[in-house]
Amino acid sequence: MIKPDTIDKIFESARIEEVVGDFVTLKKRGVNMLGLCPFHNEKTPSFTVSPAKGIFKCFGCGKGGNAVNFIMDHEHFSYPEALKYLANKYSIEVEEEKPSAEQQEALDEKESLFNLTAFAQKHFEETLHNTEEGKAIGLSYFKERGFTTETIKKFGLGYSLNTWDDFTSKALKHGYNKELLEKSSLVRTKDHETYDAFRARVTFPIHNLSGRVLGFGARILTQDKKKPKYINTAESDIYHKSKVLYGLYFAKSAIVKEDNCNLTEGYTDVISLHQVGIENVIASSGTSLTVEQIKLIRRYTTNITLLFDGDPAGIKAAFRGIDMILEEGMNVRIVLFPDGEDPDSYARNYRPAEVKEFIEKNAHDFITFKTNLLLEETENDPIKKAALIKEIALSISQIPEPIARTLYVQKSSELLQIDEKLLMAEINKQRKERFRKKAGEPSAKDEQSWQPEETEITSQKQLEKGIHVDKQERELIRLLLLYHDQEILFLADNEEGQPQEYRYRIDEYIVDEILDDEITFDNKYCQQIFNEFANARNEERKLNVQQFFHHQEPAVSSMAIDLTSSQYLLSEQWEHKHGIFVKKEEDDTKKIVTEVLYALKLKKLEKKIYENKELLHDEKDDDKIISHLENLRQLESIKTLIAKELSRIVTQ
Ligand code: UTP
Ligand code: MN
Repeated sequence: MIKPDTIDKIFESARIEEVVGDFVTLKKRGVNMLGLCPFHNEKTPSFTVSPAKGIFKCFGCGKGGNAVNFIMDHEHFSYPEALKYLANKYSIEVEEEKPSAEQQEALDEKESLFNLTAFAQKHFEETLHNTEEGKAIGLSYFKERGFTTETIKKFGLGYSLNTWDDFTSKALKHGYNKELLEKSSLVRTKDHETYDAFRARVTFPIHNLSGRVLGFGARILTQDKKKPKYINTAESDIYHKSKVLYGLYFAKSAIVKEDNCNLTEGYTDVISLHQVGIENVIASSGTSLTVEQIKLIRRYTTNITLLFDGDPAGIKAAFRGIDMILEEGMNVRIVLFPDGEDPDSYARNYRPAEVKEFIEKNAHDFITFKTNLLLEETENDPIKKAALIKEIALSISQIPEPIARTLYVQKSSELLQIDEKLLMAEINKQRKERFRKKAGEPSAKDEQSWQPEETEITSQKQLEKGIHVDKQERELIRLLLLYHDQEILFLADNEEGQPQEYRYRIDEYIVDEILDDEITFDNKYCQQIFNEFANARNEERKLNVQQFFHHQEPAVSSMAIDLTSSQYLLSEQWEHKHGIFVKKEEDDTKKIVTEVLYALKLKKLEKKIYENKELLHDEKDDDKIISHLENLRQLESIKTLIAKELSRIVTQ
């Protein structure tokens, strides 16, 4: 655990243009610097670095962040790894906090588990290569499968002897205690007797992202139908199968290079494809694909190709995977292998070039895939066709990005020969349906995300009526971040009734207005940023907005960066490029700030009125009905006032 002091020092020393400059050639453009984005392919630079703000932002792919985020994204480092990288670059001594006794114990236990698992991996590997049984049974099996010695070594494959305690006794002798052995699930206990979990099986070690072994898959070599073909390490403190992808450690750089990730069903698929030169391949072995696994892939690419068997089980798995991937805003293509073949057997039966060609030729986007698969049986059957349209609409409705949705609608309405509007209507229906379900389940909220759908406390009905305030909330926070220290002038009567000019700093003005009207933000990250401004005002201290760009809460820093970079930097670029004068909003902040403030107040009131009406609707008690009505009347009259004020500001 790095000390907060050290973290502050790193943030203070890291100059964004130097950090990025190690990887990207930057040219000066006005106050900013410009280069080719390292996160997507582009020919004209849209990757902007702002030394003054200490941030980067790409207008092509939307990526943005501070120096630490840049290193995390570019080098695929974790947060502490990125901090250490920067500390090293700027010769800052990293002081680590001593973990508490409890934390230390947990760390020690994890470390012991890692240790034992590494010991097991070495043991199985040695057994494979250096024992008679290992060579005769395990090694010859792998060779028969077509794995080369190089492949076997690279993936650390092994063999466990056909005895009850070969591994257990070696591990005990090596000083590992019984309790730890049981925790690792490499050893089992029955009636106080311990025995090896893997017996007479070949072993496939499963690595984490930095190459440490977390557990194993183990395949039986006999035809014994009573025993499971594969057994996997059970969940432990170091192995969480829903968060691990087999082969990712070996595949990650190829995935980045190809900007695509091939996802298969198992260990053997991954290894065989590697061997024919397709290295951007991983497997979700042991489980069906999980959201966590998809998010893990997204660290490296937004494109996934599913390589599945063409049998019903494979198709079913593909269907499930497609919608989950789309929902994460990623692109998915599907390759079905011919009946009876899987990627592994195909790689063994055909030449490397043929395997690559097959995958390229047969990778269909999800619409073509679903349509091809379902259209055959639906020909001339309107009911079945309707079901197919629903099925496709369901997939498209998962896509969070509206433009991508529209493009898919165009494509599929052509393919299915139906009206675009009809399909769009079906998709919107599905989205609303799901939204309603989600709104009823607050526990499903994703902490990381600050999409309006997930952080806003707006009911579906309110959304339908257009009463959601997210836009205004963000707009207000954006103005606060950008213009907080500008002063604006107000004309008001003084105590003697004479008109007088008052100066107000924008942050003070906004904070006072919001607190006076007791407005709270629905979006919790907007609220968090606002609170810090309000605290600063309360303590009469000036706030440095840099703190938001470097905020410990990633959702806050990305929100602050997003809100302040897009339009603002863009207009600067424009001006520079075209030598034209763009009317700057900072010249007109008074009007803009009041407008947004009033628009937000109006929306909040509409929301309150709506909620009151709903209460009224359900109320049976006469007295309460009267008080609700009174409330409503008051709210309506305030609303009229504010609406008037707003239209006066807008038309000024
Ligand atoms: P297969 O049944 O094809 O395994 O499953 P295999 O080892 O390639 O066997 P043969 O030689 O074709 O008969 C493909 C993948 O599915 C996973 C494994 O990762 C395997 O590589 N799998 C399969 C399991 O995890 N558990 C199982 O019980 C079966
Ligand atoms: Mn197989």
